[in-house]
Amino acid sequence: MKYYIENFGCQMNEHDMEKVNHLLHSAGHEQAPEMAKADLVIVNTCCIREKAEQKFYSRMGRLRAVKRRSGIMIGVTGCIAQLEKETLIERLPFVNFALGPSNIDRVCEAVEAVSRKEVFLDFSSNGCTGSMYIRPGQTGKEKAVRAYVTIMKGCDNYCSYCIVPYVRGREASRESGDILEEIRELAGRGIKEVILLGQNVNSYNRGREDMSFPELLDAVDEIEDIERVRFVTSHPKDLSPALIERFGRLRSLCEQIHLPFQSGSDTVLRLMNRGYTVREYRAKVELLKKTCPEIAISSDCIVGFPGEEETDFEETMQLVEDVRFDGLFSFCFSPRKYTAAAGLSDRVPEEVSLERLHRLQAVQKAITQQGHQRLEGKRVEVLVEGVSKNSRDELAGRTRSNSIVNFKGNRDLVGKLVEVDVVRGYANSARGANPVQIKEA
Ligand code: SAH
Ligand code: SF4
Ligand code: F3S
Repeated sequence: MKYYIENFGCQMNEHDMEKVNHLLHSAGHEQAPEMAKADLVIVNTCCIREKAEQKFYSRMGRLRAVKRRSGIMIGVTGCIAQLEKETLIERLPFVNFALGPSNIDRVCEAVEAVSRKEVFLDFSSNGCTGSMYIRPGQTGKEKAVRAYVTIMKGCDNYCSYCIVPYVRGREASRESGDILEEIRELAGRGIKEVILLGQNVNSYNRGREDMSFPELLDAVDEIEDIERVRFVTSHPKDLSPALIERFGRLRSLCEQIHLPFQSGSDTVLRLMNRGYTVREYRAKVELLKKTCPEIAISSDCIVGFPGEEETDFEETMQLVEDVRFDGLFSFCFSPRKYTAAAGLSDRVPEEVSLERLHRLQAVQKAITQQGHQRLEGKRVEVLVEGVSKNSRDELAGRTRSNSIVNFKGNRDLVGKLVEVDVVRGYANSARGANPVQIKEA
């Protein structure tokens, strides 16, 4: 069959679809260059905010029309599938199969069942499921230089606003031996950068005999051909001195961390069930910067959480101005089914939330740009990922601190580590010049 995958959501979803792509490809199916040429369309879904859900349902409206015309097979995977389970099929009866995020390893079985005119559903999600162990390797045409590696699944934190624990299930860690074997395999294929994935990497192997997360980083650091290691996401309450210490020491660990703070107000943090205070968050940031002065810190933040007063929001603004994050993803609170915060009264009116969001984003925009401008005049290491999105005759890559750098250079440099002079910093990226390869591939 010719299949087309449409993906929504976070990096876990992106990686899940690399796995699905690998499984379908290995079973002899072929990826279609566009949806119009496909006879199987898989939509991988996200329900983190209401908007994500709305986007999905409007997408499905259009797919139903396509199906009426051409009779394609439609599969829905991911977090909305898990959230809605059987009711998804009642609501969208033209869907042929649906799989939760932990069950995507059964995609080929699903396709076969549908070919026999059955409807295939699987939403069982507990324990270490097969999907955590799939090694997608290399399926794309362009030679990849970085790869995601799943180290755990699920989340047990139950932040009061968050639906993830309900759709991704309980935390479960993958054995370190299996992870390291996959990373060695990737290194053998020419991968230079790995991004370790888990909703809450600090609880990796909690309560088990196997390695802790900092120890896992030590072990990855010993795999010589892996030049760069990053991870997402780290919860501030569990960010340990042992992990921070690695930022000052490990060769491969990039000078970069994503550390969502969510709110700059202790009152709101308590309501969010985040388990840390603003003072504790600031102390961890300070220790990170002391251990690794070049570290880039990015974050997530929610505005308009129920009960958030103007004074609470001002504390958020203060934190943003003090820490000077290199990047910030900010969102208006969106009430989610099953979550504790959905039941809180004290809702902040939408126009107030939006106004706060805009104020916050304006301040952060300037800070992000200044961060890129601070690179001007420096010579930085860039791992070249491919041709630039903006211009066909430019290459694009990332610094160790995760800034995007575009520069003119020979296409042979794709996949290589180079050094470039940063000549200009912009809002979302920087421009480089004079690339010189620094390591043989
Ligand atoms: N596992 C990651 C985050 C996953 S969701 C972590 O714990 O950091 C990504 C971001 O979406 C969150 O950090 C939060 O800022 C935002 N988010 C989650 N639920 C939300 C909701 N109900 N409304 C608005 N934003 C939300
Ligand atoms: Fe959601 Fe909190 Fe878990 Fe992150 S740590 S996935 S925000 S419940
Ligand atoms: Fe969305 Fe699921 Fe990720 S809800 S953010 S795709 S874990």
